[in-house]
Amino acid sequence: MIAPAVDGRVEPETVVADLLARARESRRYDIGFPGARDVTFPALADIMTGLLLNNVGDPWDLGHGRAHTKHIEQQVVAIVADMLRAPAQAWGYVTGGSSEGTLHALDEAWQRYSDLVVYTSAAAHYSVAKSSRLLKLPLVMVRTDDTGRIDVADLAGEIARRRHRPAMIVATAGTTMREAVDDVAAIAAACDDLAVTRRRIHVDAALSGIPLALLPAETRPGFDFTAGATSMVISGHKYLSTLMPCGVLVYAEPPRTPAGGRIAYTGSADTTITGSRSGHTPLLLWWSLTTLGVDGLRHRAQAARDLATHTYRELQRIGWPAGLNPHAFTVTLDQPPAQVLAKWVLASDGHTAHIVCMPGVTQDQIDEFITDLTAARPPASPAAPSPKARVPRTRLSRTRTSP
Ligand SMILES: Cc1ncc(COP(=O)(O)O)c(C=O)c1O
Repeated sequence: MIAPAVDGRVEPETVVADLLARARESRRYDIGFPGARDVTFPALADIMTGLLLNNVGDPWDLGHGRAHTKHIEQQVVAIVADMLRAPAQAWGYVTGGSSEGTLHALDEAWQRYSDLVVYTSAAAHYSVAKSSRLLKLPLVMVRTDDTGRIDVADLAGEIARRRHRPAMIVATAGTTMREAVDDVAAIAAACDDLAVTRRRIHVDAALSGIPLALLPAETRPGFDFTAGATSMVISGHKYLSTLMPCGVLVYAEPPRTPAGGRIAYTGSADTTITGSRSGHTPLLLWWSLTTLGVDGLRHRAQAARDLATHTYRELQRIGWPAGLNPHAFTVTLDQPPAQVLAKWVLASDGHTAHIVCMPGVTQDQIDEFITDLTAARPPASPAAPSPKARVPRTRLSRTRTSP
């Protein structure tokens, strides 16, 4: 932490310089969270630092104000909708992140079906339970299979028990800990089998939406609008390296305008969760999407997967239990010793940790991590159980794939 500038004792410039130096120093060891940092925005410096831009209200309803980027926001929604194979009439907006997108989708589902039940998997992001709690919606947690994907048979059983109630299923494309991808096509088929037509399927594709969308059709999992999603959300600060939290929410068709309707003083429809919204984050998203282009985005994803494969193989080589799901950037591993965690920032749940090989993470960093892990590993002794046996067993070894 840095000293705050209080009582004039620390110059603000010193605080900022210190913050920058520490952030640059610690960046090398930060390999546990999915924020890409390889795209930067010097060309936008003036606009980012010298203008107030507020996209208040609906992106397609420009409102009274002129200091906004709603035309750019419309393009961002259209590009992402296209990648996720949404229908032509798709609607969406740039959110503060995926969590906000999921809250919006749950609220939209409730407006449509006030007696709905929410279903999600035990591996879903905590924002699903939080949004359900905020909206006072009943939530049913469904089991996952060995790879961390929603267990569709368990889900179907739970829906069948309440088939008189509308269903809101929140699927995940890229779960937080293991980057597993729920089978949206199978979820939609299960609902069809049960004749549950009063339903919504929202796909939280915070990290993996864009990378998966750019896979060739033969290998792409059924996770998008063509598989049965009714809404999807991606985070901008994850794969798209916006460096500022944001997300893109897309619906297959425009939701009903909420009760608030059109707000006289803003001159725009109240279709979003917050009123004022950043006009800068749509610009960052647009810059990232358009300057990288489809080829650049695809190339980065393949490079990230290659690095994940390298990481997984290195962990296997040193005998450290690890797992890697198909198409994932995320390598799961049994939790390293404390001295390794003191140097490296890894996301850990106490038993299992993960490394996310985002664009911007290099093989050099991974190799240094493996060297540290090897050095920290206690030597195996015939008298004592091996360190491998002492590590709480996870299902990692059964979930690994052959990359
Ligand atoms: C699957 C999933 N959903 C949602 C989120 C939260 O996204 P945001 O930070 O954009 O709200 C995360 C963050 O890690 C995530 O992994």
